[in-house]
Amino acid sequence: MLNPDVTKDRPRSNERQPDVRDIIDYADRIGQLARIDGADWNIEIGVLAEIFAHSNPGRSPAVLFDKVKDYPPGMRIVSGLHNSCRRVAYSFGFPDSDDPTTIVKAYRDRMKSSFQLIPPVAVARGPILENIDRDDAVDLFKFPVPMVHEKDGGRYIGTYCVVIMQDPDTGWVNLGTYRTVAHDKHNAGVWMSPGKHGRLIREKYFKQGKPCPVLICCGLDPVLFLAGSHEIKHGTTEYAYAGGHRGRPYETVASELYGLPMPANAEIVLEGEFRPDETRAEGPFGEFTGYYASHVRDEPVVRVRRVYHRNDPILTMASPMRPPTDVSFAKCIVQSGMIWDEIESAGLSGVKGVWCHEAGAIRMFVVVSVEQMHPGHAQQAGMLVAGCHSGNYAGRWIIVVDSDIDPTNLDDVIWAMSTRCDPVVDIETIKRAWSTPLDPMLREPPWESTRAIVNACRPWSWRHEFPEVASASPDRRKAVEEKWADEIAKTTGRR
Ligand SMILES: Cc1cc2nc3c(=O)[nH]c(=O)nc-3n(C[C@H](O)[C@H](O)[C@H](O)COP(=O)(O)O)c2cc1C
Repeated sequence: MLNPDVTKDRPRSNERQPDVRDIIDYADRIGQLARIDGADWNIEIGVLAEIFAHSNPGRSPAVLFDKVKDYPPGMRIVSGLHNSCRRVAYSFGFPDSDDPTTIVKAYRDRMKSSFQLIPPVAVARGPILENIDRDDAVDLFKFPVPMVHEKDGGRYIGTYCVVIMQDPDTGWVNLGTYRTVAHDKHNAGVWMSPGKHGRLIREKYFKQGKPCPVLICCGLDPVLFLAGSHEIKHGTTEYAYAGGHRGRPYETVASELYGLPMPANAEIVLEGEFRPDETRAEGPFGEFTGYYASHVRDEPVVRVRRVYHRNDPILTMASPMRPPTDVSFAKCIVQSGMIWDEIESAGLSGVKGVWCHEAGAIRMFVVVSVEQMHPGHAQQAGMLVAGCHSGNYAGRWIIVVDSDIDPTNLDDVIWAMSTRCDPVVDIETIKRAWSTPLDPMLREPPWESTRAIVNACRPWSWRHEFPEVASASPDRRKAVEEKWADEIAKTTGRR
């Protein structure tokens, strides 16, 4: 842990608009950037992303690919931008720390105290306008679009992306991360799970028989990406959520065709429209659950009519895979913070920690620790995690543990499940909850699944008689550690 003082946020406002280049520079400065020149866009970059993501989960480097095979130098790809505590802390402006729980607490403390949504501001120009390709000049393969996994159904240009759409009735602008395949030079396919905000907006246009305008931003800073890939409330624009964390408004530039707001400092933005009458086969794609789960299906096509990009653009890439992935660590941090914030806002007291586990594909294994204060408290905690907006989609297991259990430590969690839980009485199930075709356990609609809430807390009614934990008390342990420090260090290397 580098700086345990989480009560003070770093000043969040700065002169320059945040962008992807800042976080790459920061990763370089702290020795967390790998540079790979000459890799092949066809599978090799995806495999390298997997190798790096699995190399040191929670501390793996960002990887910058340049001189990609068949492409000129400068057309770059970056993966794993924020796959470490320090890079997440930097992006959000939290004090520097290498400890996940510290960052989750910093998130939740900010939400409880100083956080305010900061709407974006429109500006006339920005680096995203440095190059504009129009109509016939559009070529999605101008960029080194990767074939990420061996069995993907195409080259995916949008993985670490946000898809920007505007509600035709209310004017609300939604940003959501939805995978985007480059079908050919001019056409892209976007996959949105049932119930996702972008899909609801598109359905409104299609019901009126109209094409649906859309921007696909494929190179962007991590806070905007994390906003787009989390369940921000319906009606709130992710720009304002991300701006709230940056402590300054995002600057946006109006797109040429539809006047949609593009991040002024984005690297690459595509503009076009979904047409109600045209679909193409999309998928499969290796997904966050660790499987090629959602098969091939027909999805609406985006005819791309404008491509905006910076000079020497950087395509941001996420490589979903058998977890951990190159984005899962940061997602675990933000999602844990969001769930903590939502369950406390719903009135739950005594929460000591929340952790979404990477091995559980972030969403499917969530642990909450509580200081039990009344009968039914553990059950209430589990139900709230299962039902809150951030914890609801695509879930499976919610484990409630006592406050002496570290929710991030699977040894602790499994010990609690094994020793404080009677499966017959302590596991509740909730049926027909919100899920997705990406859930490998689902084969057909409706895309609903079951949640299990596991109460692995000491039983409330006889908690005081529950056997005592057989472990050295902290004072005794400290005293013995001090006395035998040299001997311990000799064999464990720990001081
Ligand atoms: C790397 C990554 C890729 C994602 N791809 C998709 C996708 O292809 N389709 C989808 O519906 N959700 C996808 N998600 C999840 C959504 O981004 C997330 O549920 C978000 O809340 C969607 O925005 P919305 O709530 O505004 O609909 C992805 C998340 C991440 C981190």
